[in-house]
Amino acid sequence: MSTHVAVHTSLHSDGRRLTMLDLQRLTDAGEKWAMITAYDALTAGIFEAAEVPAILVGDSAAMVVHGHDSTIPITVDEMLPLVQGVVRGTKRAVIIADLPFGSYQQSPAQALETAARFMKDGGAQAVKLEGGAAVLPQVEALANAGIPVVGHLGLTPQSVNLLGGYRVQGRGESGEMLLRDAKAMQAAGATALVLEVVPSELAARVSEVLSIPTIGIGAGAQTDAQVIVWQDLLGLTPDPAPRFVRRYANLRDVMGSAVNSWVKDVQSGSYPTSEHEYR
Ligand code: KIV
Repeated sequence: MSTHVAVHTSLHSDGRRLTMLDLQRLTDAGEKWAMITAYDALTAGIFEAAEVPAILVGDSAAMVVHGHDSTIPITVDEMLPLVQGVVRGTKRAVIIADLPFGSYQQSPAQALETAARFMKDGGAQAVKLEGGAAVLPQVEALANAGIPVVGHLGLTPQSVNLLGGYRVQGRGESGEMLLRDAKAMQAAGATALVLEVVPSELAARVSEVLSIPTIGIGAGAQTDAQVIVWQDLLGLTPDPAPRFVRRYANLRDVMGSAVNSWVKDVQSGSYPTSEHEYR
């Protein structure tokens, strides 16, 4: 048995809830790992049973759950019940709660108050926030309070209005700034770092330099882990998917045609039949 298989296997055999330290162990052993988003108990339970060690309750919920066209509008009060559902639906996975836009940027104290709600009321094991140099005091304050923090650099969707769209970040000279931010996040106490839609060469450099896990989305194959929004992975979001997405199912078609069959059966009277009746 290789060391890699041994570390992953031990994660799934001792029965307790995982922590960010377990993910660090995987990375230290050179083992790649996967993180997926979830926003409710049932899907989170399915993903955990599929051996995903880390689940992100992303503020992407603003778009895929609440139907907004960006992640900006979602609030802590809207995110909290989603985190609670995901925690209730799982026993093993690390649950990471995304801090919504406006709930941490003001000050380290504000970040601490929001993160504490997600840990105490939500039951999350870690939080994630977006940004580089500007949020270092927040990362430090959370780490000092014993809260594992995941950073997020590159395409940071909460800054879409400043970035001018969902574009590749870190090309050319801005790549050096991202590398500096990544090092500073680690020094401030971040326990992992999401790298979203950045050149793969840059993501590889960051992953080489940092000892904490890098979690890529549209950042190539050299990061320590990969994260994906589940509706993209399983084909619930409509085409076209972003370039970095590989569809592993087409739930849009599966669900659409199943529901359409049911509608037709209801219309024709072929459902329900006697086997669905109570006597
Ligand atoms: O909100 C989210 O789902 C995210 C991932 C895309 C990393 O931040």
